[in-house]
Amino acid sequence: MPVADADAAIRLTDTDAALARLSAVQKRYLEDPFVKHLVPRAHLQPPRAPLINIGTFVRTTAIDDLVFRWLQTSASEGTRCQIVSIGAGSDTRFWRIATGAHKDALATYIELDFPEITTKKAMAIRKSKELSAVLKDVKVSHGGTGIASANYHLLPADIRLPPDAALANHLPSNILSPTLPTLLLFECVLVYMAPESSAAVLRWFVERQTGPLGSIVYEMFRLQDSFGRVMVENLKARNVSLPGAAPYPSMESLPTRFTSVGFSAAQALTLKDIRKSYIPTSELERIAHLELVDEIEELELVLDHYAITWGIRAPPERVWGQWGLVKATTAVVDED
Ligand SMILES: C[S@@+](CC[C@H](N)C(=O)[O-])C[C@H]1O[C@@H](n2cnc3c(N)ncnc32)[C@H](O)[C@@H]1O
Repeated sequence: MPVADADAAIRLTDTDAALARLSAVQKRYLEDPFVKHLVPRAHLQPPRAPLINIGTFVRTTAIDDLVFRWLQTSASEGTRCQIVSIGAGSDTRFWRIATGAHKDALATYIELDFPEITTKKAMAIRKSKELSAVLKDVKVSHGGTGIASANYHLLPADIRLPPDAALANHLPSNILSPTLPTLLLFECVLVYMAPESSAAVLRWFVERQTGPLGSIVYEMFRLQDSFGRVMVENLKARNVSLPGAAPYPSMESLPTRFTSVGFSAAQALTLKDIRKSYIPTSELERIAHLELVDEIEELELVLDHYAITWGIRAPPERVWGQWGLVKATTAVVDED
């Protein structure tokens, strides 16, 4: 398959992610006043199946929790932090943080994606008062393919290229401080690239950043079993291949993504585990009333093939060593 077609198919996965988020918001699983400004003709989009809405709810709630804990830890250490979202697509997390309870803990939020995606997002931001009002001193950059502002940067880059070209050019120290606590987000991105390329990206940050470094990866795994093979075939029919999944056939393999490139600790949980033990009961009860789901076994099978893995590079004795998801009995639901 020509590379251009394969990349177009990868970029289309952003439309899926954005429509899934919109659907979960329309059906009241999630609150997100910004998503409708990033999805064309949002009011005409049909909702997704309940199973997809629940998956989107579990994934978003858990990643939000990890991100808010990072912001809280920064604040408790008396510092602000920066977040770099790679393959950010039409994600709205920056706007939710910048208008939420932890906004003062955020120094900068940086998003990278293919230029075709960042051009569309830059246009949507310029068109929407709600989105642009959250940015400070905003300017269009990179010939219309990016956005520069005091608290948010949108940058066009193919992160499969060697990091010294793809990242170093875009992330000078006046945009990405080498010393502030830095959280890297890869939400359903690395699975589309060769494992060597994603390891090179992670290593670049490990070598460059001197402050606490955290990272969150969300993606499918365990694709070697019969259900996983069906997922692979379905995506192949849409010209999408998943070279990044090969090294991760099991739960045990997931943390090695981080520990093999210099992170000091890492953990992984499936969405099935997270739904069972890491989402507050009040939230589970609330969403149980939203839609009828009779296929619980099927839901659990799907959720068992998606995982959130997080890694940290910081001295373990410091408070950063405690960063991670916490079981629901002690979990704090952010009321933003
Ligand atoms: C499934 S979407 C996820 C979008 C967003 N992270 C979310 O969860 O809503 C995958 C995104 O990764 C981006 N992506 C994939 N490979 C990339 C690469 N080599 N360089 C930059 N972006 C890439 C795609 O363009 C797409 O926007």
